[in-house]
Amino acid sequence: MPQFPMTQYLGSKRRLVKWILSYTPNCTSVLDAFSGSGVVAYAYKQQGKRVIANDLLTSSYFFAKATVENNHVRLSDDEIERLFTPHSYRQSYIEQHYVGVLYPAEECRFLDNLYANISELDDPYKRSIALAAAVRTCVYKMPGGKFRPNLLPYRSPEHPYHKPKFQKPIEDVYRSFLLAYNAAVFNNRQANLALNADTLDIVSTIQVDVAYFDPPYGGSDYDYLRDYFFVELYSRHYGQMYEFSGEVKRYEESRHSGFRLISEVHSSFQTLFERAAHIPCWVVSYNNRSRPSKRELTDLIRIFKPDITVVEQDYAYKSGNNDRLREYLFVCRS
Ligand SMILES: C[S@@+](CC[C@H](N)C(=O)[O-])C[C@H]1O[C@@H](n2cnc3c(N)ncnc32)[C@H](O)[C@@H]1O
Repeated sequence: MPQFPMTQYLGSKRRLVKWILSYTPNCTSVLDAFSGSGVVAYAYKQQGKRVIANDLLTSSYFFAKATVENNHVRLSDDEIERLFTPHSYRQSYIEQHYVGVLYPAEECRFLDNLYANISELDDPYKRSIALAAAVRTCVYKMPGGKFRPNLLPYRSPEHPYHKPKFQKPIEDVYRSFLLAYNAAVFNNRQANLALNADTLDIVSTIQVDVAYFDPPYGGSDYDYLRDYFFVELYSRHYGQMYEFSGEVKRYEESRHSGFRLISEVHSSFQTLFERAAHIPCWVVSYNNRSRPSKRELTDLIRIFKPDITVVEQDYAYKSGNNDRLREYLFVCRS
């Protein structure tokens, strides 16, 4: 069975996938409504289910388009090599704005050249594989994996938190992710689908047996639109934005998650559950630090799905304060 490429994603459930699958009721179709890295959606695909994966971020959408929706298409060896050749008409968009801000000059030039080569791929799935690997490479090269200020000095070999991986040539990093995403393509004989939307806007139209909900945990300091702004720039707005502000040259984000601020997360859950009421079963990931609390979330769910089982386990994310952290899984039925 092909393997999903190694993830580095805020809130990734890579190490919880087996647990989540083991509590997902028998079904033939699943919506992964906040698919992130794509690792959970891919695991459902491996079980032979028809999978719909959705994420608000375009950079995350490409993970799912490449590996979940895509049942057949791979890059040939020639197409892989062409992604590394110098392109005569490449723009210098990343080089112009991000040298010394997020990456050194040679990496910015590589990313510009790569973008030009990716744009020449005529198949949308091939472009998705190439972009998924590019997004993964950009994250890998960022200390801590988030596009936050002042991180470039961490890459210097003199910095106390330096990691050898930062010295790896970007071509080699990209090649290994490209091969991994290419190798992950397989056919589960289902009409899987990747979407790039606000879940609140689409969930009422989706017909599946089970919905898996893993939204940003209310009260975590993750802001996906900000923390991944650079890969959004690369995969969604390349060459289109020229006004940036702040030390890392961010742009103003016009989209809105609804699950970031504690003040809005309760009503977003309420809307989500109202609009997903027609889906017979929900599996919801959450933890003991988040808002609304376990009790509040249970009360919200119970309005629509009175039959609720909560399973839990100790869990440590790769970074942050993991002290007495418990991961919950709500399994909810009508
Ligand atoms: C906790 S992460 C999901 C991690 C994923 N399960 C994994 O294992 O990689 C939450 C995801 O929700 C997405 N998101 C935030 N607000 C959203 C919205 N309104 N609609 C769809 N996706 C949203 C974020 O971009 C992020 O990828």
